[in-house]
Amino acid sequence: MTMRIAVAISGRGSNLEALLRALRPDAPAAIVLVVSDRASAAGLEHARSRKIPATVLPDPDDPTGWLDLLRDYRIDLLVLAGYLRLVPAPVVAAYRGRIINTHPSLLPAFGGKGMYGERVHRAVLASGARETGVTVHLVDEVYDRGAVLAQSRVPVLPDDTAERLAARVLEVEHRLLPAVVRAAAAAGRPVPLTEAGVNQG
Ligand code: GRF
Repeated sequence: MTMRIAVAISGRGSNLEALLRALRPDAPAAIVLVVSDRASAAGLEHARSRKIPATVLPDPDDPTGWLDLLRDYRIDLLVLAGYLRLVPAPVVAAYRGRIINTHPSLLPAFGGKGMYGERVHRAVLASGARETGVTVHLVDEVYDRGAVLAQSRVPVLPDDTAERLAARVLEVEHRLLPAVVRAAAAAGRPVPLTEAGVNQG
């Protein structure tokens, strides 16, 4: 059975692109829908250029819109890849354990409402932390709180700027998120990545 995946984005979509590249045609999972809360999200083009349905949510806070869409496309797994809003609670309830998110820090550090993009990396640098990283976790009703499925560490270098750190963390994200999605496709649901899984990602 092919796991049917929807990916939610709000912007550039480089993680979506990484997932599309990682899921080869013979993979036990396929991205069959891309949704966004913004018509201006550049990442929508990654889907359209591959003829994957790409939809802008008329009201991202309306659970009915979400549920109808996910049911119409018979979605098994929802991946938040740079999606910056909370998924409505009734959607989380209906898809509990089947929604994952990627976050560019070692949660629970540097997570939560308003912590996204370069703000995360500026906070890491301001804190003097010697390492940061990437976390892929299950999604619940609170930003960045769900159970951790995988983490990968990234050293903070003495001459790092927020931009340079963001770029190095993003490279790791582009490996870790596909590794978690592949493991989910193999297991039929999202599962914690073993150390081996993290290193092979
Ligand atoms: C990623 O770093 C993701 O963790 C964060 O926002 C960024 C989105 O990047 N939530 P992109 O849109 O996938 O390029």
